Amino acid sequence: MQVIRLKTPSMQGQIYIGKDVIENRLPLLVQGQKNFVVTDSNVKNLYEKWFETHFPNTEIFVLPAGEEHKTFSSLNAILEKMAGAGLHRSSRVFAVGGGVVGDIGGLAAALYMRGISLVQIPTTLLSQVDSSVGGKTAVDLGGVKNIVGAFYQPQEVLIDPAFLQTLPNREIECGLGEIVKYAALSGEIFDLLESNIERLRDLEFLQTLIPACVSHKARVVEADEKETGERKSLNVGHTTGHAIELSSGLSHGESVLYGMLLETRMAIEAGVCEREYGERLFAIVQRAISAKVDFSNIERDAEKAKSDKKNNDDGKIAMSVAKAKNQWTVFSLPFDEYKAELKKAIEF
Ligand SMILES: NC(=O)c1ccc[n+]([C@@H]2O[C@H](COP(=O)([O-])OP(=O)(O)OC[C@H]3O[C@@H](n4cnc5c(N)ncnc54)[C@H](O)[C@@H]3O)[C@@H](O)[C@H]2O)c1
Ligand SMILES: [Zn+2]
Repeated sequence: MQVIRLKTPSMQGQIYIGKDVIENRLPLLVQGQKNFVVTDSNVKNLYEKWFETHFPNTEIFVLPAGEEHKTFSSLNAILEKMAGAGLHRSSRVFAVGGGVVGDIGGLAAALYMRGISLVQIPTTLLSQVDSSVGGKTAVDLGGVKNIVGAFYQPQEVLIDPAFLQTLPNREIECGLGEIVKYAALSGEIFDLLESNIERLRDLEFLQTLIPACVSHKARVVEADEKETGERKSLNVGHTTGHAIELSSGLSHGESVLYGMLLETRMAIEAGVCEREYGERLFAIVQRAISAKVDFSNIERDAEKAKSDKKNNDDGKIAMSVAKAKNQWTVFSLPFDEYKAELKKAIEF
């Protein structure tokens, strides 16, 4: 079992990673107070026995699976159930599931009685390498992702890679999108991916990267919890990625991979990213992609990047991009130039 500590002004939390974390940590966290579990229908069905063993006589809120349920009305239903279960200040919420459950369960814990204890138990590759760590919680509203939320750190994150055995392949690719993002930011992860390029879809290999991704994120969050500076680095590939996600029907991870591919190309050609390093990163991203995307409407897709939360008020499109090994920067372009460069990058 590996332990990574994450200290922010509001919280000192621990992240435990390994096949023995549930056995060793969960019983200690479950005892001594009233508990409440948030999960989704897929996880509940797959892990019925697991819940019976670890959460006997506990109120379990089962959200229907899927991003479309990450809404205010689901949040309201969770909060009503928490109140109905008589949770009080010293009660604890366990979010057991992927990023959707972690985000909405985390927000419910942040809001109930102005904040009660939260433990994240991520069950997807994406949530184990990324979303369960760092304290961003949210729901979607009016078709805009994560527009309502709070920064709320979990007390503990228990990462058990055994959950990944039941994950469909497409969900593994989702996690891969975020892992490749870390390769653009951390030389250590870059080297691991480059030297294991044949194993980019091999779960045994991917799960060995969890500690490195989580450590990287924990360090970034400690330095900049509220995303005023360094935390923006974690948006690598996400500006164009979100635009593709909104218009293509690809998953988040698949879209981020394409976003990284195009933004890395734009950054190389603009001289923002050092060419030799950039080409190597480009090759890793290319190898990670398996989904096909139709770029015939790229001008219309590019419009979607205009509404990105990461843009400033100056009307420019802001992209976090790798500059060299272990270095990143914000690369901003006026919209017309962004659109033109995007078209060139696609033709590459
Ligand atoms: N808070 C953050 O910092 C942060 C970072 C990245 C993404 N996110 C959010 O995370 C969400 C995406 O997360 P996700 O990809 O985990 O999505 P998800 O929670 O929808 O899970 C993906 C699918 O896998 C299923 N599933 C979960 N665990 C499983 C298991 N062990 N075996 C089989 N199936 C399982 C789920 O039921 C779902 O159908 C998005 O809402 C995104 O906005 C948040
Ligand atoms: Zn992402």
